[in-house]
Amino acid sequence: MAGDWFETVTEAQRRAKKRLPKSVYMALFAGSEKGVTLEDNMAAFSELGFAPHVAGLPKEREMATEVMGQPLSMPVMISPTGVQAVHPDGEVAVARAAAARGVAMGLSSFASKPVEEVIQANPQTFFQSYWIGDRAGMEKRLERAKEAGAAGVILTTDWSFAYGRDWGSPDIPDQMNLKTMLKFAPEVLRRPKWLLEFAKTGQPPDLSVPNMTAHAGEPAPTFFQAYGEWMQTGSPSWDDVRWMREQWGGPFMLKGVMRVDDAERAVDAGVTAISVSNHGGNNLDGTPAAIRALPAIAEAVGDQIEVVFDGGIRRGSDVVKAVALGARAVMIGRAYLWGLAANGQAGVENVLDILRAGVDSALLGMGRSSIHDLTPNDLVIQPGFERRLGTDSATIR
Ligand SMILES: Cc1cc2nc3c(=O)[nH]c(=O)nc-3n(C[C@H](O)[C@H](O)[C@H](O)COP(=O)(O)O)c2cc1C
Repeated sequence: MAGDWFETVTEAQRRAKKRLPKSVYMALFAGSEKGVTLEDNMAAFSELGFAPHVAGLPKEREMATEVMGQPLSMPVMISPTGVQAVHPDGEVAVARAAAARGVAMGLSSFASKPVEEVIQANPQTFFQSYWIGDRAGMEKRLERAKEAGAAGVILTTDWSFAYGRDWGSPDIPDQMNLKTMLKFAPEVLRRPKWLLEFAKTGQPPDLSVPNMTAHAGEPAPTFFQAYGEWMQTGSPSWDDVRWMREQWGGPFMLKGVMRVDDAERAVDAGVTAISVSNHGGNNLDGTPAAIRALPAIAEAVGDQIEVVFDGGIRRGSDVVKAVALGARAVMIGRAYLWGLAANGQAGVENVLDILRAGVDSALLGMGRSSIHDLTPNDLVIQPGFERRLGTDSATIR
């Protein structure tokens, strides 16, 4: 429906807020502690600017690229998120939208749809794993993803189990049964459109995590059961990272790198790619914006592995800024979740179209005919913008 189209990601967020029950909206908003990192992820993009030309602009702009062996129609990918109860089609709707727009997708271990169904909708899917349980269990889940045809693995290790948000954490039930439905009835009944989407399926939102089992169709743990197991598991060593990379044997990304020294260790562990990321401001609060850490990391390891970026992307010009600072591509989190909440698959396509048009517009203004020609010199960078974490040189430049 034309009336469902939105013109910016901010508008998609407004609609998501209106449409979703408060607990679901707040689960997507996420963030940790005081929200310093969450805010800086977006604020830092405002410290980067452009110096547009007025004539001699390129007629056509090249945007296609490749990450972990996957061709992309633009330097944007879907970051893995535990989508859960946003929309009944969940990650399958996201995968269809990504496929329709020529974009690869990361599928979370904590996703609500089985990896087999998601890969059917988009073969350009990377399976995301946390370090949960023992090696044997992880091996089985990776084996399942491989059999399903996953194009690569993303290992996410930046998690310090922070909890407590100054604005309050949502009350998420362990499972949706009659008791919890009644408990949540008051806030859900205020969001009839969201309820209607689920009513059409005849099922309440499924809060289990089907990709945490060794085989498709096995009884899956709930989100909180899986989270509990994660809390009991020690965090991985660099040998563990190397082990998982070898176990997988194909394209492999380590997500959540913020320091140059860690990026160098990731190179030593043999990864294909890293994502410079602070988990969208959901991990250790006080970590600087990921975009501030990108230039030093790209400079240090960009010629040895693929450097991807995520955190705070809300518009096409943000994508261009990240690429100019050394990212091969970016991944988006909340932006597509807002789109999914606002209008299902079409909403995610809408978000990807907004980003594409924004990349094109920024390239045009800058007089650049290809994303591959972008350099930091294309940007106006405020003094003190960078954070060179994990280096001997000054932290701020
Ligand atoms: C609600 C939510 C759930 C997330 N779940 C996961 C996850 O399961 N695995 C993961 O690697 N990252 C997860 N992330 C982090 C995203 O992949 C990504 O790093 C982050 O959202 C990027 O920041 P942005 O939201 O500003 O684009 C999650 C983020 C959000 C907002």
